[in-house]
Amino acid sequence: MTLQRTRPDLPSKDKRWKLVNATMRRNGYAGHALIESLHAVQDAFGFLDEEAMTFVADSLDVPLSKVYGVATFYHLFMLKPQGRHACVVCTGTACYIKGAGALIEGIEERFHAAPGETTADQALSVLTARCVGACGLAPAVVLDGNVIGKLAVGQLCDLLAEEVAE
Ligand code: FES
Repeated sequence: MTLQRTRPDLPSKDKRWKLVNATMRRNGYAGHALIESLHAVQDAFGFLDEEAMTFVADSLDVPLSKVYGVATFYHLFMLKPQGRHACVVCTGTACYIKGAGALIEGIEERFHAAPGETTADQALSVLTARCVGACGLAPAVVLDGNVIGKLAVGQLCDLLAEEVAE
């Protein structure tokens, strides 16, 4: 008799978890898919946080310590950003065509933080992801976990300025 392992529920209704789960499912939830799965998390969320790493560990049935080991060993992986606010700019194809590059440039100009960086006052971390699952809202941005879209660079920067001022 083989024991059927139960898979953990998706951490939230955020559609990005489905993208991550699809990658793990495609690999039969096998432990050797750990790096690919972490890439899927980073592509969707821009970084890896504890919730995501726990979800991947439970789904693939690998120890959380191993997930942390891999996530911290490879410099390609970005752990949860240090800023009080996190702005993930989607640079997937749909968003890129609709001006994601201008958003990144605009943020860098105004807040002096490039993708992967946090402002000197630790108020804002800027990240990129390859598709956040909201292509219809291109160019999409995820600000503190909320997906927002179709903003011009000036509007986005004003919104960020309001957020970081709080
Ligand atoms: S390409 Fe940006 S949300 Fe899909």
